[in-house]
Amino acid sequence: MCGIVGYNGKNKAVNILLDGLEKLEYRGYDSAGIAIRDKEIEIFKAKGKLVNLKDKIADKELNGTCGIGHTRWATHGEPSENNAHPHSSNDGSITLVHNGIIENYHELIDKLKKHKYKFYSDTDTEVLTNLIDYYYKKYKMGPIDAINRTMVRTRGSYAIAVLFKDHPDEIWVARKDSPMIIGTNKDGTYLSSDVPAILKYTKKVYYIDNLEAACLKKDKVIFYNLNGDEIEKELKEIKWDISAAEKEGYEHFMIKEINEQPEVIKKTINNYIYKNKIDIYKSGITEEELKSFKQIYIVACGSAYHVGVCAQYVLEDLTRIPVRVEIASEFRYRRPILDKKGLVIIISQSGETADSLAALREAKSQGIKTLAIINVVGSSIAREADYVLYTLAGPEIAVATTKAFSTQLIVFYILAIEIARIKKKITERNYIELIEELENIPYKAKYILDNLTRGIQKIASKFSHTKDAFYIGRNLDYAISLEGSLKLKEVSYIHSEAYAAGELKHGTISLIEDNTLVIGIVTQEEVYEKTISNLVEVKSRGAYIIGIAAENIDVSKISDFALTIPKTNKYFYPSLSVIPLQLIAYYITIDRGLDVDKPRNLAKSVTVE
Ligand code: F6R
Repeated sequence: MCGIVGYNGKNKAVNILLDGLEKLEYRGYDSAGIAIRDKEIEIFKAKGKLVNLKDKIADKELNGTCGIGHTRWATHGEPSENNAHPHSSNDGSITLVHNGIIENYHELIDKLKKHKYKFYSDTDTEVLTNLIDYYYKKYKMGPIDAINRTMVRTRGSYAIAVLFKDHPDEIWVARKDSPMIIGTNKDGTYLSSDVPAILKYTKKVYYIDNLEAACLKKDKVIFYNLNGDEIEKELKEIKWDISAAEKEGYEHFMIKEINEQPEVIKKTINNYIYKNKIDIYKSGITEEELKSFKQIYIVACGSAYHVGVCAQYVLEDLTRIPVRVEIASEFRYRRPILDKKGLVIIISQSGETADSLAALREAKSQGIKTLAIINVVGSSIAREADYVLYTLAGPEIAVATTKAFSTQLIVFYILAIEIARIKKKITERNYIELIEELENIPYKAKYILDNLTRGIQKIASKFSHTKDAFYIGRNLDYAISLEGSLKLKEVSYIHSEAYAAGELKHGTISLIEDNTLVIGIVTQEEVYEKTISNLVEVKSRGAYIIGIAAENIDVSKISDFALTIPKTNKYFYPSLSVIPLQLIAYYITIDRGLDVDKPRNLAKSVTVE
């Protein structure tokens, strides 16, 4: 949440900062601000989206070649210009942007007030600004000393970029549990909370660890540990393509990313399957370990949790290992009792979700092995997990996940098939058949995009004024209903609920009336007749039904609008049925005239609890 950028080099900073903030807007868009250092430090802020800040500075001549910027997702204090970053210390010695949350800010405010500091905003960030100033002036031992003392006193998560008035041509940064990368090229040094913001300028980056700090000079970066000693860091190369962070002719990132699914699914499959053989062992995990797990716990948030729900059906059925799926924010605080012979799998696109990171740490503290399924290389969860299986979705910019979700599912299929093989729960022949069918998924996904998009686009306008929607299915169709429902509500703001089809009659069916939208997903042969009966029940109460069914299941008689998806193995249907669900959410939202890439109140990477 919140995005931060910085640049120190030969070129004018303003365009680099605005460009970076545009790429980071998915991290928060309540307000934005920049601080540019020429002779003096000048700060500009505006409430609302970045465009407001751009308008505000359009006629300004800003020649400074060093600066920091911020796009905000409000935590402490309402979205307003006053609460927007950058913030300055009382006498302007320190200027700072911050991503994260300071948990003990009340205690720190009290301390600073005793030293006559005044506070002008409602943010926790201003505390950091003044605390650095306090230590800087009290001990007079320079920026790294002041930053380290501040880190020691502060509880919470943060990534900060700081300008010291007395230290021109330097940007100081530090982090704990909030993302931060530092890039370099011949034109200068860059910082950002996420890769897309600097991808245009450099692919050479340093990852800075928790409780470390760095000084960005114009031509080099110096890293420090918490003792203030200089430390070495390895320069790494980002593999993502620049075009992946651009819209490339699409109207929105969400529809671009929906359309990228066949390609990124294929890439992810090819990363782990070669010549009909699965290889997930470059992650470091061994066959022996995989064989030994007696219990699997899957922990994640939001859509990633829905991947976990799908995975539970597939893993249990294929491997016969018991699986529990848990919402990360609940897992941590219920003092879970974990089987020491178990495996905890954390799923996260960003690799920075605070609750998922906390769940990972909880598992590690109990001595349980952890495996992370992650999209962003070098992210906190990826660095802390025992093993990582990466999804190859590339940068996902739209706030609502689509392509990362689909690649996470693929990794789970691969994992489940491999464990089933090792545990001899499937024959060699089943193994090959499953792999061959998995390799067909990208083509079937492409077929859906090519053949169903137009029909969905047309029908979507009929529902742009709908107040409620219900998604129903059984087994894996229920699991994917959860995702379809979340997708619709988060981008269109239409209330929607997903229900196990058989559960509807235990209460929720009373909400069905004339023209209530019900989306029925019917792909699982073993239970399809039962789901159809449930659809008949809602139809007879007036519901308008969109039926999404596998080729061999006929829902046309019961549906007002039927969508057919190609036949596949029962486990893989979620990879196909999710596509029409994403398209329904996208086109209904477009018809409502809403900003589909940046839904209100949301941010891409949820780094606060
Ligand atoms: C919904 C969505 C969120 C994320 C959730 C977890 O479209 O994107 O529900 O799935 O916030 O995020 P990651 O995967 O980054 O941990």
